[in-house]
Amino acid sequence: MTQNALAIVVLAAGQGTRMKSRLPKVLHPIAGRTLVGHVLATAAQLDADTVEVVVRHERDQVVAALASTHPEAVIVDQDEIPGTGRAVQVALDALPAGFDGDVLVLSGDVPLLEADTLRALIDGHRAAAAAATVLSAIVDDPNGYGRIIRDAAGDVARIVEQKDADDAEKATREINAGVYVFRAGLLRAELAKVTTDNAQREMYLTTVIGLLRAHDEKVAVEIAADTAATFGINDRIQLAEAARTLNDRIVRRWQREGVTIQDPATTWIDDDVTLAPDVTVLPNTHILRASTVATGATIGPDTTLVSTEVGEDAEVRRSEATLAVIGARATVGPFSYLRAGTTLGADGKIGAYVETKNAQIGDGSKVPHLSYVGDATVGRGVNLGASTITANYDDVNKHRTEIGDEVHTGSHTVLVAPVRLGAGAKTGAGAVVRKDVPAGALAMSVAPQRNIEGWVEKNRAGTAAADAAARADSAE
Ligand code: UD1
Ligand code: MG
Repeated sequence: MTQNALAIVVLAAGQGTRMKSRLPKVLHPIAGRTLVGHVLATAAQLDADTVEVVVRHERDQVVAALASTHPEAVIVDQDEIPGTGRAVQVALDALPAGFDGDVLVLSGDVPLLEADTLRALIDGHRAAAAAATVLSAIVDDPNGYGRIIRDAAGDVARIVEQKDADDAEKATREINAGVYVFRAGLLRAELAKVTTDNAQREMYLTTVIGLLRAHDEKVAVEIAADTAATFGINDRIQLAEAARTLNDRIVRRWQREGVTIQDPATTWIDDDVTLAPDVTVLPNTHILRASTVATGATIGPDTTLVSTEVGEDAEVRRSEATLAVIGARATVGPFSYLRAGTTLGADGKIGAYVETKNAQIGDGSKVPHLSYVGDATVGRGVNLGASTITANYDDVNKHRTEIGDEVHTGSHTVLVAPVRLGAGAKTGAGAVVRKDVPAGALAMSVAPQRNIEGWVEKNRAGTAAADAAARADSAE
């Protein structure tokens, strides 16, 4: 192992008591990723020899979440001894024997740090040949953080935790961001001396800083330029603040790439989203998970897209779509709901109050008003009349509806699946279609209309309706 080998240790074993949650703190999501997922995504940019994640609280849940997003991470189990110091100690024990490189310690609950900040921290640490380098921040409200206590020469003397600090120490506004680089050998030696003799009865990693200084080792401090990025999340208030900070960062990133975002305050965009130049995002819009939006498209207002692909120059207004594909120049909304497996072809239309699910709707086809289209294949150039419904569920099983090219259905058609409409077929208004319709046929299922003349005057004599009818009769 060379001197410059790098191991990254991500601390994720704590309970996160202050979250008051069933979910382990590090699995709470912001911008579509878990807190620890953000930390690991950043760690992945640093070319480390190994990345370890220390787990204990709700261990199986955390490990299962990591297995799907970061299978390369090495899981290390912390034992019953609590504290960040113990967490790092078990992580060191799990490194290859004799590892004497640098150890970057990251907190699973500090999700906003960027790779450049960490690279600078590591480079500074190596250039200064320090035993340890601490990332600090100067904050307005240091509550809840460990404080950096400096000596007369201005060097860091030790770190004191909030719960162990006296009033003077508490007034210090320079806080420990919970991110450090250590020389592995010195860290191992000093951790062996750390006890749980403190307010929280935990082995603090922060104790190592004072011990190193007491042994005349060099400890450097790097003050973070971007204070907000050092934000640690311990409760729901901080969770919301971090989500806002990260969202602002994502919104600005897309604005710089040529996306118009009319109201950043009400626009939420997940980290995995891709937007093309000249996309317009209108207020109250959520673009989530792995959604992609092509150039010229307009999303919003009041729209949610989840893992949805939107084509060039398409428009989605006041609607929700999940795992859907919306073709180029297609229009959706207002007030429609595209569920998983919906694909709408180029130049297609899903209008107002329409729900679709597992439906492939062809190029140029329209579902303009008040429809349900589920488990269906719809060809090209189709028009489904207002309130056309695919009755896909027979109370036991789901069945498919197949609609050929250029089919037009009358208003209020019910297509009772399984059923097939051949190309160019039509249905009359109110048709209940239970049998396949051949290509080019007109399907009618409603009984011929019968008018009973004089019914109102005979049966509703004296009502306003009867009077109006009598007037109409005499006027004729
Ligand atoms: C810690 C620091 C504090 C710093 C703050 C920055 C210590 C003692 N204190 O405090 O100086 O200002 O972070 O955000 O380190 N964890 C484990 N095992 C444990 C306990 C915690 O892996 O036994 C993990 C947690 O899951 C979390 C991280 O370590 O990801 C920090 O733990 P937390 O309890 O949040 O420490 P803080 O009180 O925030
Ligand atoms: Mg914390």
